[in-house]
Amino acid sequence: MIFSTIKTELDNNILTITINRPDKLNALNQIVLDELNGAMETVYNEDIIKGVIITGEGEKAFVAGADISEFVSVKDDEGALLSQKGQEIFFKIENCPKPVIAAVNGFALGGGCELAMACHFRLASTNAKFGQPEVNLGLIPGYGGTQRLTMLVGKGKAMELMMTGSMIGADEAKDLGLVNYVESPENLIPKTKEILNMILTKSLVAVSKVIAAVNSFYEIDKDGFNEEVHLFGQVFISDDKKEGTTAFIEKRKPVFKGK
Ligand code: COA
Repeated sequence: MIFSTIKTELDNNILTITINRPDKLNALNQIVLDELNGAMETVYNEDIIKGVIITGEGEKAFVAGADISEFVSVKDDEGALLSQKGQEIFFKIENCPKPVIAAVNGFALGGGCELAMACHFRLASTNAKFGQPEVNLGLIPGYGGTQRLTMLVGKGKAMELMMTGSMIGADEAKDLGLVNYVESPENLIPKTKEILNMILTKSLVAVSKVIAAVNSFYEIDKDGFNEEVHLFGQVFISDDKKEGTTAFIEKRKPVFKGK
């Protein structure tokens, strides 16, 4: 995979995608979005990739937002299209059947916070800062932020964060449920890999169905409980379920094949 604005590295079935424009604090321009989309398609298609980490290059930023300099050249009537394109790519992340974790290593503002929120869950370094500052630009979040921030932190806090545009630090983000762990910058990626490696020892069929079932809670046209019944039925006929239950009875560790 050759990209100009992101880096990808495959290590032990884990693909790390690093947004790589550190001189622009990893701001998401259209090329980054297209490349991220391409990388996610590879994640869907390549069996060797079992899990994904998304992070930012450098010590300062995860992603400091959509690239504001591009907004000036977008025609007035093209705003909705811009938003729709970003949303489609972020849905691809959210609905990925393989675990995708954000390792937030600095500023996660605007589209950066939205990118982190599209991942299945988030770890932050102690210097991370989160915010949806679009109101400062006369905008609102357009890559799913109004919805996912509300899902993650609740309506009142989401309203406050988006109306004031204020930034919050990593500890407050953890208190709000926006991130699961706060780690030192050096320990951020090792801890993220540790969690992902633990997940990869489980039945990856079951893990993919957990993702689908939890996501269905938020899908207005789906009854999450019915969806759970349907997905439970699917895992029940998997080889992994046979292996997991047999291994338990035989008092040994299961060897899952992800089938
Ligand atoms: N889009 C485009 N460029 C961006 C950017 C963005 N969202 N965020 C940062 N940059 C660029 C800056 O323009 C600057 O480029 P330059 O060196 O060519 O001038 C470079 O990244 C470094 O940013 P700078 O502002 O000098 O760093 P700082 O430490 O003083 O401030 C921030 C850091 C994150 C507070 C500040 O960059 C900022 O407010 N960025 C915009 C955040 C935002 O509104 N995001 C939502 C967009 S919808």
